[in-house]
Amino acid sequence: MALKLEPGAKLVAATHNPGKARELAALLEGRFEVVTAGALGLGEPEETESTFVGNALLKARAAAEASGLIALADDSGLSVRALGGAPGIYSARWAGPDKDFALAMSKVEKRLEEVEEDDRHAWFTCALAVAWPGGPAVVVEGIVKGELTFPPRGGLGFGYDPIFIPEGHEITFGEMDPAAKDAISHRARAFEMLRATLF
Ligand code: IMP
Repeated sequence: MALKLEPGAKLVAATHNPGKARELAALLEGRFEVVTAGALGLGEPEETESTFVGNALLKARAAAEASGLIALADDSGLSVRALGGAPGIYSARWAGPDKDFALAMSKVEKRLEEVEEDDRHAWFTCALAVAWPGGPAVVVEGIVKGELTFPPRGGLGFGYDPIFIPEGHEITFGEMDPAAKDAISHRARAFEMLRATLF
């Protein structure tokens, strides 16, 4: 079986987050018909793996099996070197049930103070997985490296963007024009790899 995605194929985006579904659909450039796992009434599997790649694969496989369609899933987050890679796959969970990223960012700052470490190196990771029902799967991972800064700066972007300065830049992702972020982000890099592999 050739692992190629034909234009016009129907894909299920394995997410219940409408914002993420829109982002995934936009990145697929209108090439495919995209439906979301939420719209199909599919359940959300528990993210039990210990890596971004593992969780992206788990979500894609579950959606492909449940829908009978080719499925696309992502998993992403921020890793901080001085914190041993935390929050990592727990990035969303650090924001709590209210998805409070001011809280999540202050938690990162507090933990860094606790470990009394000057190292501010961090990176964002995005794993993207495509799974065929009953068949194989492809997974890629994109990263962007940078440094953390406190207090948070900039009202653009989302999540941990206001504390992350990408390598080679002096402003945070929160201060950066979205198009400029999209040109260098972990998500853009993962998509570029997926495009090169499958289209
Ligand atoms: P997921 O939805 O389980 O993949 O969780 C991803 C988490 O990582 C979210 O809570 C995001 O806030 C955070 N994250 C992922 N990508 C970015 C980004 O580009 N900027 C800021 N935060 C991000």
